[in-house]
Amino acid sequence: MNFGSDTTAPAHPDVLEAMSRVNTGTEASYGNDAVMARLRDTIARVFATEDFDFWITASGTASNALALSCFCPSTGAVLCHEEAHIERDERGAPGFFSGGGTLRLLPGFGAKIDPQAFIRAINANNPDFVHETPLHVLSLTNLTECGLVYRPEEISAFADRAKAAGLAVHLDGARFANALIAAGAMPSGLSWMAGVDVLTLGLTKTGAAGCEIILLFGAARAKFQELRVRAKRTGHMPPKMRFLAAQAEAMFAGSLWTRLAGHANRKARDLAEGFEARGFHLAYPCEGNEVFVDLPAPVAEKLKAAGAVFYGWPGGSSRFVCSWATQDSEIEALLAAL
Ligand SMILES: Cc1ncc(COP(=O)(O)O)c(C=O)c1O
Repeated sequence: MNFGSDTTAPAHPDVLEAMSRVNTGTEASYGNDAVMARLRDTIARVFATEDFDFWITASGTASNALALSCFCPSTGAVLCHEEAHIERDERGAPGFFSGGGTLRLLPGFGAKIDPQAFIRAINANNPDFVHETPLHVLSLTNLTECGLVYRPEEISAFADRAKAAGLAVHLDGARFANALIAAGAMPSGLSWMAGVDVLTLGLTKTGAAGCEIILLFGAARAKFQELRVRAKRTGHMPPKMRFLAAQAEAMFAGSLWTRLAGHANRKARDLAEGFEARGFHLAYPCEGNEVFVDLPAPVAEKLKAAGAVFYGWPGGSSRFVCSWATQDSEIEALLAAL
């Protein structure tokens, strides 16, 4: 009954097999290997574009901070939700990587940015006024930190307005595959076609061992050399990149990533329905692979005593996360304990 996080799940066997398969002979290092070259073709197919560059790191925090630092100078700011992972959970990594860039926080239900608050912030932005820190990037998260999905048209609306104001658009896609399933969208529709310039595409929570791809689309490709330099400088240019690339290859093969995310989303739905059927209120609609439920403290304690692993969430609800490895038996056991 481990619903602590999708990061607690093991890596999918196909991922480990793929890493084993590329573990033969010598290979060019630092991303110049044949597996990276093959992966480029795969990503082109999956995202229906040739107009991109990419890099891989082993953690979402590193990918987010690297991506943002290419677009936000030390004197600038990133506009994001007040509950965004880059704000709450990364110990200032975006500021650290950008050498001093800050975050400007916006409200909104379920960690989705309130469109009106966004427009107000954009309208108030005055890059020419030396006494204010100007906005350089809009960062959205999909799924959001509260498990809600931004649909393509919502991302487009934010991106159009952000770009008109000269901001780059970053998408934290730690749970991008879950968002694809939830939105019924194509990878292109939820990224470059909707105006995303830089996507941090998480595959670790989906089922990889440690593989987070930074994708630069279109005009943002101009930042690729800077991204590589920053990756090197911050220690995110591991020599044996083939093992990171092999993980991504395995995840995209036969659409494994979306199949695994589909399973995680379905299990979360089962769990959410189980809570609701027993009279418990969901703090947010269950749209992806996370369930946020209002549990009285004694009930939460009872579940923990029965062996369930989950965490309290700011705001008072309890968060349960399902993964590719979540079993029906775990959900049945949790609901029985409930
Ligand atoms: C929305 C979101 N972004 C980024 C991350 C960062 O991932 P990592 O823990 O790999 O640094 C997480 C991890 O929980 C996350 O939930």
